[in-house]
Amino acid sequence: MPVVPATEEAITRAAQALAHGEIVAFPTETVYGLGADARDAHAVAKVFAAKERPRFNPLIVHVPDLAAAEAYATFDATARKLAEAFWPGPLSLVLPKRANSGIADLVTAGLDTIALRAPNHSVAQRLLAEAKRPIAAPSANRSGRVSPTMAAHVEAELGEVPAMILDGAPCPLGIESTVVGVAGDTPVLLRLGTVPREAIEAVLGHALPLANENAAIASPGQLERHYAPNTPLRLGATDVRTGEALLAFGPNAPQGAVASINLSASGDLEEAAANLFASLRRLDESGAMAIAVMPIPEHALGEAINDRLRRAAKAR
Ligand code: TXA
Ligand code: MG
Repeated sequence: MPVVPATEEAITRAAQALAHGEIVAFPTETVYGLGADARDAHAVAKVFAAKERPRFNPLIVHVPDLAAAEAYATFDATARKLAEAFWPGPLSLVLPKRANSGIADLVTAGLDTIALRAPNHSVAQRLLAEAKRPIAAPSANRSGRVSPTMAAHVEAELGEVPAMILDGAPCPLGIESTVVGVAGDTPVLLRLGTVPREAIEAVLGHALPLANENAAIASPGQLERHYAPNTPLRLGATDVRTGEALLAFGPNAPQGAVASINLSASGDLEEAAANLFASLRRLDESGAMAIAVMPIPEHALGEAINDRLRRAAKAR
């Protein structure tokens, strides 16, 4: 059984496993990651194999803080400002990679940029401190599927493949980090995530455009089928049709669904984000013909929630 409670002793063993080139799953504040030593090409290859992830899709490297990050990438004034404002936290920065970074080429898919983030989760931070190495970690799901927010989800996705799955309770935020590219002249939003666009714009002092999905600069991962349950989704639903399950939001959920989960009865977007992926998984297992999803407001965290729902709905 690879799932173990994230005790001090278990974290020490996980750090040793990473040092021996094994892969381990661990909680972050966003979703569970599947980690490998980012300087060990062999270990990183195991992550791609476990996820069946295309090799053109680069990984995020996790570091304790800005000082550690500077060994792997160059930070201009804008990048530094963003790291200081949001780290540790759910913001990944895509930056020019240092030539002597020591990071395996597979991590960055051969690009001259690297995605870095300092996670704000005690288990992830303790693992980084014990491992004393940068940890490349994509979400711990098979490629194209819903990200795991609980250790049991990781086990359902990957079984015995990770050497260990550190169980650190459900992830508090529940949607992946926001990815911002700071490698060109102006910052671009490469992936919507748990830091709302407005919060980043407030620090920058100007608008943060979303990268065109077809542009070469876009996150390669954004071009793929993503966040897909097996059951079709019907978005913007205000009623429930025969045989449908309901993913509700807010106080006015319609009755009559074969299964029903409310992301937030009070209409709180943070609560909804934290519940999103686990709720999609549960409704996917309900045997419903389709999942009707009520409208979610398109501001703050609603932008990232709607992004994930649109990708899930489009995936078939
Ligand atoms: O919250 C998160 O970010 C989680 C936790 C585990 O930290 N990780 C995560 O990783 O979501 P992953 O691999 O599922 O998503 C990484 C995203 C992908 O869209 C990838 O294409 C993009 O970051 N990315 C990574 N390196 C990049 C680079 N050099 N240039 C552009 N996009 C990059
Ligand atoms: Mg992912």
